[in-house]
Amino acid sequence: MAKNLVILNTLMDTVIITKSHYFFFMKFKTTPYHHDLLKDKERLSCFFEAIKDYDSKTGLAYDLGCGSGILSYFLSFYFDEIISLEVDFKTANCAKENLSNFSNVDVINSDVLKYDFSKKADLIVCEMMDTALIDEEQVPVLNFAKQFLKDDGHIIPMGVINTVELVTLERDYVHWDEDGVKYDVLSDAVVYSKINFLDNLNLNFEKDITIQAKKDGFLNGLKITTFTKLNDNIICGPTPMLNPPLLVPLDERSIKRNSFINVKLKYSMGKGIESIKTEYI
Ligand SMILES: C[S@@+](CC[C@H](N)C(=O)[O-])C[C@H]1O[C@@H](n2cnc3c(N)ncnc32)[C@H](O)[C@@H]1O
Repeated sequence: MAKNLVILNTLMDTVIITKSHYFFFMKFKTTPYHHDLLKDKERLSCFFEAIKDYDSKTGLAYDLGCGSGILSYFLSFYFDEIISLEVDFKTANCAKENLSNFSNVDVINSDVLKYDFSKKADLIVCEMMDTALIDEEQVPVLNFAKQFLKDDGHIIPMGVINTVELVTLERDYVHWDEDGVKYDVLSDAVVYSKINFLDNLNLNFEKDITIQAKKDGFLNGLKITTFTKLNDNIICGPTPMLNPPLLVPLDERSIKRNSFINVKLKYSMGKGIESIKTEYI
């Protein structure tokens, strides 16, 4: 019956979903950061659809880094029990208040890496995403927490696909592609990594990448774009609050159309954008 749920709108901190002709209005108390996350309807919709699609519902779900509690709210329609962990005290208190009327949701103020897991889950939902998984703890958290997932359990999202392009940047520091940021694209996008969260992932990423220029230009940067694979059917590109493309400086060089550029890209997943290193090879 819950299959007919459709996410309808997000108005400020109110999320409205509909099932047949019934509307569910859910008002969220949040921090300013989680308020921005709630306003990103595209981000919410893809998580909502993936949770709705998950075909063997019921049982136990963990929501790791639950923030306002929005994804636990979606899970509450389907699962018998949801354990929602949030490291930030104030945020966890908001989530506790937001979900106080849901008897199948237990919000706990704890770091996932220090939580004493006592049972294995059917599903882990974890949205600690950032572009290429560099700036948030998605990978270290899932490397640890997936030992508390049943053998036939699933993770939402299931992984990411990362691409890179050659660009001319106006700024000489790592920054995100947000309003007002300008750059010129000099190549097509090349897929340089595919990550499945069920694998044991090495936090230290290093890859030699070859990219062909599609026009003459002044090369001084790379654009990294992350596509989030929610499940086998849903891939979500960047949204304002889910993996906006990352612009990374590279030593300046004039390049010719059709030339091949070889670069080494290094970073540590979960260690922040300061860990990003680029060089020509
Ligand atoms: C990008 S927000 C997502 C919040 C919420 N899941 C949503 O989709 O709106 C990530 C959340 O994970 C929390 N977090 C980060 N590291 C954590 C950890 N090690 N243990 C528990 N929570 C963590 C942050 O405080 C933040 O609230």
